[in-house]
Amino acid sequence: MSAIGRAWDRRVLPWLVEKACRSTTILAERKRWVPQAAGEVLEIGVGSGLNLAFYDPDRARAVVGIDPSAELLVQARARADAAAVPVALVEAPAERLPFDAARFDSALVSYTLCSVVDPAAALAEVRRVLRPGAPLYFIEHGRSDRPRIQAWQRRVTPVWRRLGGNCHLDRDIAQLLRDAGFTLDPLEVGHVEGGGRLTSYTYQGVARNG
Ligand SMILES: C[S@@+](CC[C@H](N)C(=O)[O-])C[C@H]1O[C@@H](n2cnc3c(N)ncnc32)[C@H](O)[C@@H]1O
Repeated sequence: MSAIGRAWDRRVLPWLVEKACRSTTILAERKRWVPQAAGEVLEIGVGSGLNLAFYDPDRARAVVGIDPSAELLVQARARADAAAVPVALVEAPAERLPFDAARFDSALVSYTLCSVVDPAAALAEVRRVLRPGAPLYFIEHGRSDRPRIQAWQRRVTPVWRRLGGNCHLDRDIAQLLRDAGFTLDPLEVGHVEGGGRLTSYTYQGVARNG
């Protein structure tokens, strides 16, 4: 990667991610799903920690947030310290989780499966570290159900992902979860208010491990 690319990823991208992930619509999604996570929770791609304020201490005993970005984990530190549940932050990619099998009672992923290098490997790892039958709460954006928007998502993704930390506009998140062996119930899909046409198709719900 060039020096400009590295500077972009270290300095500009963390700021962009934080800004993009703070919309009112996304905030409402976080408030809806995050408090449902229970027991010891794994958050995949914790980023700057925007979900951490919404864990419910009556349900979640502790949260382990992983992310490969050291810069974003620095931003997450203050939110981790202010959370109502104990939070540990671990620098690691979802494709190689440094945890024992069946350790976690639940998991949560938001706006991250678009960006992981190998979603199949990442989801296989999530299944490995989740207890059998445990829930993975997901809030993700991805491939639209409208053919014209899909076509634009495919065209724009090669450039978009270079600027956006490998964010793909055109991943079918439900299919990725099913292919990994999760059962989805509920699954809610559709374009949400307030987002651009290429980024506003969201997949939200609960994926069960097996
Ligand atoms: C758009 S941000 C979302 C951050 C956070 N989940 C949120 O909802 O605010 C995408 C996140 O995916 C993380 N990410 C990228 N590749 C990853 C990987 N291989 N494993 C885990 N996280 C990854 C990025 O570092 C970044 O924190």
